[in-house]
Amino acid sequence: MERLQKVIANCGVTSRRKAEELIVMGKVFVNGEKVTELGYKVSDSDVIMVDGVVLEKTNKEYYLLNKPRGYICAVSDDLGRKVVTDLIDTETRIYPVGRLDYDTTGLIILTNDGEFANKLMHPSFKVMKTYVAKIDGILKGEDIYKLKKGILIDGTKCVVDKIKVKKIDKEKNTSIVVIGISVGINHVVKRLFKAIGYEVLKLKRESIGFFDLGNLQSGEYRMLDDKEVKKVLAINNGK
Ligand code: URA
Repeated sequence: MERLQKVIANCGVTSRRKAEELIVMGKVFVNGEKVTELGYKVSDSDVIMVDGVVLEKTNKEYYLLNKPRGYICAVSDDLGRKVVTDLIDTETRIYPVGRLDYDTTGLIILTNDGEFANKLMHPSFKVMKTYVAKIDGILKGEDIYKLKKGILIDGTKCVVDKIKVKKIDKEKNTSIVVIGISVGINHVVKRLFKAIGYEVLKLKRESIGFFDLGNLQSGEYRMLDDKEVKKVLAINNGK
């Protein structure tokens, strides 16, 4: 038996939070009966209807993609721009776990498993993401110190877990910096550097937790194996 909102999210139709809202709004029926209680538990044989549509219990799918520039991390785009799901050959409604900016490249995971996505994204699980950033200017020691001490963004203290200057180009006045961070705020790397006076010229995500890009070229992807999926589902927040 599993909680209703979890089963709905796991089918990939919506997030767990949105599923909770739909339940409370009276839009969810189990075996023909309206359920508005969030703790309600269902089994595999129960027929669940969300907003007039019967849930199809889909198989879970998991992909790791090396995102090229010029793709939106979404399942569709009002402006007609390319989206990351265009790159994956599947009929299943998968969605990206978290976001990379349009001009950011690198590792993104896509799935239709809400619980799996939550483990990778929720701040309490503290999954570190590593980026390589090319910035304008030569990164100063005092600025590294500021990043390690933490910078306030939208009221959240963002502490950099790992930072290393990989290369500097004095002629072009640029630095290549490896930065590891577990805070999941939109545009966090660009905003951190902006806060200390640098612009990010290029950004690539190289890893999320124990996942890395391996040999995947830009635009290529692979499916995760069972072992990898189980390892993510076993992540706990230490509570
Ligand atoms: N931080 C950013 O600024 N952009 C990204 O795409 C990811 C992290």
